[in-house]
Parts: sequence; structure tokens; C-alpha cells
Amino acid sequence: MELNVIHLATVTSTQDVARAMTPRRVGAVIIADVQEKGRGRRGHVWLSPRGGLYVSIVMRSDPLLSLRAGIAVARALQKLGIDARLKWPNDVLVHEKKIAGILIEASEGMAIVGIGVNIDSVPLPEATCVECETKRSVTRDEVLQSILQEIETACGEDIIKTYRELCCTIGRKVRIITAAGKEIMGNALGIDRDGHLLVDDGKNKHMIVGGDCEHLDAGV
Ligand code: BTN
Repeated sequence: MELNVIHLATVTSTQDVARAMTPRRVGAVIIADVQEKGRGRRGHVWLSPRGGLYVSIVMRSDPLLSLRAGIAVARALQKLGIDARLKWPNDVLVHEKKIAGILIEASEGMAIVGIGVNIDSVPLPEATCVECETKRSVTRDEVLQSILQEIETACGEDIIKTYRELCCTIGRKVRIITAAGKEIMGNALGIDRDGHLLVDDGKNKHMIVGGDCEHLDAGV
């Protein structure tokens, strides 16, 4: 994928900038220093002060793109020595604390992959950041380059196999709010070949296509 990186100072959201681009081409990478209206999945706000990584990448749509992006971010952070794992579907956690988030939006047959990584500070007390973990200075561009490289690398792989290895949700007690707003509590059994989460609530097995996932136990 040929990349065209555009660096901006302050934006509402890099997702908005990517969406408004004409012409918009696969490989466009929008990076901003600050987002005034950063957004997360399912209507959440993504606090975006100076010092973090806020980037949107225009890519070809692909049903496993959300998992591929998660893999790329987790691996880029692992290369820095950070024990990054994926909470289904693609929250990037370090010892259960969120370090990065991914939002994928569809637009005119393309996908806009938005990635936010806490680099030198935490916007919320229950989060962590790259420098909080490495205890050394790490630049935003270093993290971005590594993520872009890992997105390419993940293209040729068995995404589901790699995802299962990085996912810390499998085997956990979870509370799911499905995309339709239904609550399901149970044990996360695994990830199927389409990237759906399989949950056993004690009576029934559920295939979760999309939604929010909370880990209810401490894990190992
Ligand atoms: C989440 O975990 O809820 C997803 C967070 C995604 C945040 C990124 S920052 C760059 C891009 N622009 C946005 O407004 N959101 C995404």
C-alpha cells in the first residue's frame, strides 16, 4: 500500500478529515497533534491532548480489518517491550489497562481506520501509556511507523490464528453489550473464523458479532 502522510496541527477528528478528503485514496494517512472532538467506538469520546498519537488511515474494506488493525497496534507496542494484548474486538490493553483504541468507519466503499495511542500521558486514571510502560522516551512517529509496517505484515498472515494468540479475552468471564444493546454475561470460549466472539452464558452459546466487552475476572 503506497502511503501519503498528511500531518495537521489541530482537527476535530482525523476521521472527519479523512472522510472529507477529495479525492480520497487508499493509503492516505492523516495524523494530528490534537483532536478537539476525538471519538471512540459506540459513541464514546476519545480524549486527545497533545502528546498522543491520533491517526486515521484510508484502507480497502475487509471483514477482518478491525482484527488486523488490532494485531498491528499490539505488535508495534510489543516491539517496544510492552506486554500489549487485545480485548475483543480491538482494545489494546497492558495488564488490563487501556493503552490504545481503534475505530473503523465505512465511507464510500472504503474503510477509515482510526487509531489512538496514549504515548506520554494518560487521559483517564484507568488507562496507561507507552512511556508509562517503557520508562523511556518514545516518539509518536516511531510508534506510527511501526504500526504502519505491522499493518502491511499482517496482510499475508492467518489473521484469526494470530489474533487468538494476542487476545486476552479468551477464557475470561465477560459482560457483553451487543450492537443491538442486549447484555450477555458468561465465559468467552473463543473466536470463530469470522472473528466473532463465542460466549457461553451457562444455558446457551452466543456468537457475538459486535459490541462492547468487559472482562469481569482478573485474568492470569
Ligand atoms: C476506542 O477505543 O473507542 C476507539 C478510539 C479511537 C480513537 C482514534 S484517535 C484517531 C481517530 N480519530 C478519532 O476521532 N478517533 C480515532
